[in-house]
Amino acid sequence: MPPTTLALIVALGSAAILGATDTVPLSGLDLTKLHQGWGRPVVDRSVEGNPISIGGRSFARGVGSHAPGVLRLDLDGRAERFGAWVGVDDETQGRGSVSFTVYADGRKSFDSGVLRAGDQPVRIDIDLTGVGSLVLVSGSAEDGMDFDHADWADAQFVMREGVPIAIDAPDEPKVILTPAPGPEPRINGPEVFAVRPGRPVLYRVPATGDRPMNFEADALPDGLTLDPWTGIISGTIADRAETIHPVTLRAVNDAGRAERELRFVVGPTLALTPPMGWNSWYIHYNRVTDADMRAAADAMIDSGMADFGYSYVNIDDCWMVKPGSTDAAIGGRPRAPDGTLLSNARFPDMPGLAEHIHAKGLKAGLYTSPGPSTCAGFAGAWEHEAIDAALFARWGFDFLKYDWCSYERVATGEGRERFVRPYRQMRDLLEPLGRDIVFNLCQYGMGDVWEWGGSVGQCWRTTGDLGVEQGGLLPGFYSIGLSNARHGAWAGPGAWNDPDYILIGWVGDARGMGVGQPTTLTGNEQYSYMSMWCLMAAPLIFSGDMTRLDAFTLNILCNAEVIGVDQDTLGVQGRIVRRTEDDLILAKPLADGSIAVGLFNLAEVPRQMTVTWDELGVEGERAVRDLWRQAPLGTASSHYQAEVPRHGVSLVRLHPTE
Ligand code: GLA
Repeated sequence: MPPTTLALIVALGSAAILGATDTVPLSGLDLTKLHQGWGRPVVDRSVEGNPISIGGRSFARGVGSHAPGVLRLDLDGRAERFGAWVGVDDETQGRGSVSFTVYADGRKSFDSGVLRAGDQPVRIDIDLTGVGSLVLVSGSAEDGMDFDHADWADAQFVMREGVPIAIDAPDEPKVILTPAPGPEPRINGPEVFAVRPGRPVLYRVPATGDRPMNFEADALPDGLTLDPWTGIISGTIADRAETIHPVTLRAVNDAGRAERELRFVVGPTLALTPPMGWNSWYIHYNRVTDADMRAAADAMIDSGMADFGYSYVNIDDCWMVKPGSTDAAIGGRPRAPDGTLLSNARFPDMPGLAEHIHAKGLKAGLYTSPGPSTCAGFAGAWEHEAIDAALFARWGFDFLKYDWCSYERVATGEGRERFVRPYRQMRDLLEPLGRDIVFNLCQYGMGDVWEWGGSVGQCWRTTGDLGVEQGGLLPGFYSIGLSNARHGAWAGPGAWNDPDYILIGWVGDARGMGVGQPTTLTGNEQYSYMSMWCLMAAPLIFSGDMTRLDAFTLNILCNAEVIGVDQDTLGVQGRIVRRTEDDLILAKPLADGSIAVGLFNLAEVPRQMTVTWDELGVEGERAVRDLWRQAPLGTASSHYQAEVPRHGVSLVRLHPTE
C-alpha cells in the first residue's frame, strides 16, 4: 500500500472519530448580501480587481471589498472556526484606513482596531463552536470612506456540516413606543413665546385631548385675545417695552382640565426655543403648489401635530418664476415692471395662502436666495432685497429661509465677511418691517456659520443637504447629526444649529426631486433620528408628505416628552459625552435640573450600553425616565445601562431625587 493511501485512511479514520470538517471559503458564499459603501465585492481579487496584497504580502484567495461593509451569516451552530487575514489593499498606495470587526451571536469576538494602508495583515482566528450568527463588518475608521479597500484575505470557515448562509439584515418590526394621548386635556409646547415689541402675536395653544375643548387664560397682556374654542391667541401686546408676561393657560373638556404657565417674552430675541413645523422641499420639490401648502396646514391640525407645538408651514424653493420659463400666467417674467417679485402660476394668491395658514393659528414661511437665482434656478432676491423683504412681510409671512446658492457668483468681500454680508443685509431689512420673521440661514456651514449665525438670524444650516447624504452602513442623518453635534457651544435661545429636516414617513427619494416613497429607515433608526435632533436642540421641521402621515411616523414626531427635550427653555444643545466607532452618547441639561441622555448604538448588532455618572458629571441618586415610553425605570446611583437595538437609541431623562 503506498504511504499516501495509508495516510489518507488514517486521516479519514481520525476525521470519523473527531467529526469530519469541510473548509468553505468566504468567497464561495452569496456575496450579493455583502453591503458595502462603494463598488461590489470581488472574489480572489481586490475591490478594483488586482491581486490581493496587504502590507506587501500577496494572497491568492479571499474577498476584496470596500468599507464600510457588512455581511451577515447564519451558521446554525454548524461551524467550528473562522480564519482570515485582514487589512487595507496595497492598491490604494498608502491611502485609506479600515477597522475590521466580527460579532458572534451579537458579541464582539474580533476587533482589528484601525488598520492603515501599508500595515501588515492582521490574523483573525475565531472559535465558532455553538455560534448561530456571525456578522463581519469593515468600518471606515471615522475618517471618511475614501480608499478604504478592505481585504478579507484567505478567509474561510471550518464547518462540521453544511455551509454558512449569507442573509439580509433581520426585519426589525416598527414598534410604536409613544403612548397615545389621553382624552383629558394636556397643554404641550414650550413655556415661553417670544415677540418683539409692537409686533403681531399669533399663538395656537398646543393641547392634546378630546374636542370640544375650552380654553381660558389668566393675566393675558393687554392687546391680546384668546379664542376660547380654538385656543388661538392673537393681537398685539400694547406694552412696547421689554417685559415678561406670565400667563396661566387652562384647557377644559368633559374628561378633565389642564393648567400651564406660558410666558410672553417681549424683547429683541425671537425663537427662544427651536422652531417647529413642516417644509415642502423633500416631498414636493419643484412641483409644490398652493394646494399642497394648504393641505399641509390642514393636516398639521387634523393629524394632531399642531397639538404638540408644530406651527410653521414653510414653502421651500420653486414658488417664484423660473427666468426664461414658459410659466403660462406671466410669460416667464420673474418680476413686474416695477420690480415686484411674482409668484408662479402654481401660487396664484400668496397673501391668501398666508391667510389660510394664519386662520388655523399656524405660521407661514417661504424661501429665497440672496443670489440671482435659487438652487433650483428660480428668481432670487439679488439686487431686489429690500423690495422682496417688504413684500414677504406685506403678504404676511413669518419665516424666511435664505439659501446661498447662486450668490456664489456675485459674492464679494474676503474671508468670513464674504459669507456674512448677504445675511446681515437681509437681517437689517427684515428687522424694521413690523412683523416678526424668523430668519433661517442656509449656506451649508460655510465660514463656520455657527460662530456668527446667531448675530444675524435665529437658525443656520451647519451641513450640506441631508437628503442627498449617502451614509455607509448608517443612514446619512447620523453623519449630518454627528457633524452638527460638534457646534453645540454656539447654540442658545434664539440661535440654533440646524442639521436640516426630519425625513421620515412618505418622503422624496435620496437623490432629490423624486416622487415620494416610504422611508427606508428602520424604526430604530427613526427613533435615533428624532432623539438626536431633540438632544441637539435642532429646529424640528418635518419634510415628508403631510397627507400620508401614518401612525408610526406620528409616534416619532409627536411624543410630548421627547419634544420637551428639544423645546426646553434652558436652550442648551446636548454635548457629546462619548463617541467611538460603535457608540454615541449625547447629554443635554434641562431647565428643571434634570439631564436628558441618549445612548445611540451605531453598531450592526444590538448591544448593552452604559453611561456613568462620572461621564455625565453628576453625583447621587437619579430617577430614570424612559422618554419614548413615557415610563419610569426606577432609580440609579452610579450609571445607567440599557440594551440598545442596532442603530437604535435609549433616550432617558435623569431627575435628581432630592
Ligand atoms: C438647497 C437647500 C435645500 C433646498 C434646495 C432647494 O439645496 O440646501 O434645503 O432648499 O436648495 O433648491
